[in-house]
Amino acid sequence: MKGDLSGKSVVITGATSGIGLAAVKAFVTAGAFVIGVGRNAQRNQKALESVFNEVPDGHVRYLLADLAVQDQVHQLANTIKEVLKAQQINKLDVLVNNAGVYQERKHKTVDGIEMTFAVNHLAPFVLTHDLEPLLQVSEDGRVLTVSSYAHYTTPLCLDRIADPWPYIGLLAYKRSKLCNVLFTYELNRREKRLKAYAVDPGLVNTGIASKGGKGISDWVWRWRREKGTDPEVPVRTLLYLAGEKAELPQGYYVRDCQSLEPSRNAQNAKLGDKLWRLSSKLTGVNW
Ligand SMILES: NC(=O)c1ccc[n+]([C@@H]2O[C@H](COP(=O)([O-])OP(=O)(O)OC[C@H]3O[C@@H](n4cnc5c(N)ncnc54)[C@H](OP(=O)(O)O)[C@@H]3O)[C@@H](O)[C@H]2O)c1
Repeated sequence: MKGDLSGKSVVITGATSGIGLAAVKAFVTAGAFVIGVGRNAQRNQKALESVFNEVPDGHVRYLLADLAVQDQVHQLANTIKEVLKAQQINKLDVLVNNAGVYQERKHKTVDGIEMTFAVNHLAPFVLTHDLEPLLQVSEDGRVLTVSSYAHYTTPLCLDRIADPWPYIGLLAYKRSKLCNVLFTYELNRREKRLKAYAVDPGLVNTGIASKGGKGISDWVWRWRREKGTDPEVPVRTLLYLAGEKAELPQGYYVRDCQSLEPSRNAQNAKLGDKLWRLSSKLTGVNW
């Protein structure tokens, strides 16, 4: 798990639990300066303490932002720039878009967008856009977006994705994870100086599907998560993709440090372009 990431600056969203918290610990242990992002001040503080418990001399900061709110994503990017500047760091090497939600029932954000799509796809789109100039300065700028095998066998109708009806939690989640892969492939098409990867973590024992309501999803997930791996397992792939000297995989969809073929939809350039333009329209980001 160690590797050597000294001199690297890394932003990890969803850094208060599960894969994100494990990633912060691993990246800090590997010598990187890590900015973790969480949506709750107390959970941020608890996560920070748990990082320092394991890596007392770790170089780490935690920032607060609710990624469901587009204004807060822009504000977060500005704060990240200020924090890096204060550390006399003029580049960002790795952005890990990890934060994610599973919502049993439909919720809309203050921006009027269905929550799963807003947090799982639009927030990475906006944050990557705002941090892209700093990622370009790095010789090895990487954007790692945590997707899922759930993206397979998912139809995608972009016309209703921001306000789906009828709403089915599992379908909204699967679509958002397909958007993660489409975004990654489209980013590689558009930004030649960055490398983007969609990471499939496999089934991991975290609390994700129990946080979005106490219904059937929570019940099924409590049984299912026990078959999952520890969060440290997918973190190995994140570390590998962040490593400077890593012999990078050919494809952009990676699980267990190896590229896999994502779904045909995920590689569809027309769909990737359509999602990009829709994301620009919904966020007002001209990219
Ligand atoms: N677990 C699996 O089997 C699995 C499989 C495939 C893909 N994934 C993906 O892995 C990623 C990490 O999930 P996980 O399994 O580690 O679950 P998790 O423990 O619930 O982690 C999700 C993280 O995202 C944060 N988050 C949620 N909504 C947010 C918001 N509006 N603003 C800011 N942060 C927010 C959570 O904060 P709180 O601590 O405040 O809740 C938490 O830190 C997700 O993208 C998920 O889709 C997981």
